[in-house]
Amino acid sequence: MYRYTKQFQKALVEWFNREKRDLPWRHTTDPYKIWVSEVMLQQTRVDTVIPYYENFLEKFPTAQALADANEEFLLKQWEGLGYYSRVRNLQAGVREVVENYGGVVPKTREEISTLKGVGPYTAGAVLSIAYGVPEHAVDGNVMRVLSRVLMIDEDIALPKTKKTFERAVMELIDYDNPSAFNQGLMELGAMVCTPTSPSCLLCPVRDYCIAFHEGEPEKLPVKTKKVKTKKIPYDVFIVEDEQGRILMEQRPETGLLANMWQFPMVEVKKDVVTDSVMAEMYHFELAGKDHLMPLKHVFSHLVWQMDGYILRATDVEEPPERAAWLTLDEVEKLPLSVSMQKFLAQYRIERQKL
Ligand code: ADE
Repeated sequence: MYRYTKQFQKALVEWFNREKRDLPWRHTTDPYKIWVSEVMLQQTRVDTVIPYYENFLEKFPTAQALADANEEFLLKQWEGLGYYSRVRNLQAGVREVVENYGGVVPKTREEISTLKGVGPYTAGAVLSIAYGVPEHAVDGNVMRVLSRVLMIDEDIALPKTKKTFERAVMELIDYDNPSAFNQGLMELGAMVCTPTSPSCLLCPVRDYCIAFHEGEPEKLPVKTKKVKTKKIPYDVFIVEDEQGRILMEQRPETGLLANMWQFPMVEVKKDVVTDSVMAEMYHFELAGKDHLMPLKHVFSHLVWQMDGYILRATDVEEPPERAAWLTLDEVEKLPLSVSMQKFLAQYRIERQKL
C-alpha cells in the first residue's frame, strides 16, 4: 500500500504549475490541438515537434480543415517526423469526429477510443488535458517515473505491464487537477526522472519515492532487451533521363512509409544485378552510373542499409504504375522520407559539380 498519495499529488501538481516548460500546446485546451500535439509527441522529441506543431496548426487550424486536407499535402507537412501512419490515422479519426460527433471530440474514454488512431494513451492525454477528465495517460516516461515512485518491478517491455501502470495512475491521480497531474508525470520523466541518471536531488516527489528511499532508483524500470533489429540492404537509384527528369515511385498503400514517394530501390540479394532489374522494371536503357554516399534508415523493428547511385537513362519508355518521370521542382513537392531527402541533397551537390 502506498501511503503518500495526497502528498505526492500536491507536490507533483505544484511543481508542474511552477516549473513547467513553456510549450506551444500548453497555451490551449482545444481538444483538436491537444490531440495533434499528443500524436506528434508519441514517437518524437519535444524539440523536434515544436516547429511541426506550429506549422501543422497554421495549415490545418481546425478539425474541419484537417478533415478536408489532401493526402499528399498532409504527408508533406509531416515530412521528417516519421511514422507516417500516425498522420493518416489522425486525419481518419478527425474525419470521424467531424462526421459523427458534429466536430466535437468526445469526452468519454469509451467514445474517444473508438476513433481511428486513438489508443489508451492518446485517449487519456486528450481527455485529461483538454477536458480535465481524470483518466490515465501512460507512456514510457510515466512508466519509468511510477516504477520508481511505487517500486514496481514488472517488465515494461511486456504489453500487459502497461495495465498495471494504468491502474496505478487511476489510484494516484488528483481528481481536482487531472491535467496538471498527468502532464506533471510526463514532465518529471522528461526533465528529472530520466533513464540512466535521475536528478533525485532536484525531484519534487523524492520524499514520496520508494525507490529513492531504497537507494537505487536508476535500477528501475525493469526492461528486457528486445531482439536485434533486422538489417536489409537496398540499392537506391536516382535515375535521370536526357532531359534531367528523375524517376520516382510511390510506395504501396499499406505498410512502412505507406504512399510516400521515393527514388526506386531494389533489395540487394545474391546473384541479383540491381541496376539491370531497374532498367527492366522501369523500361529504360542504362547509360552511366555514379556512386553516392550510403545511408541508414532506422525503423523501430528493422534497418535499411542503403547504397545510393545515380543512373543515367536513355530510350526511356512509359514507367509502370505508381512510378513517374518528374522534374526536380515536382520531386520537391512530394512527401519523401528523411533518407530520400538526404539522397536528394547529395544529388543536388553532385549536379552542381558537373
Ligand atoms: N510527451 C507526451 N505528451 C507530452 C506533453 N503534453 N508535453 C510534453 N511532453 C510530452
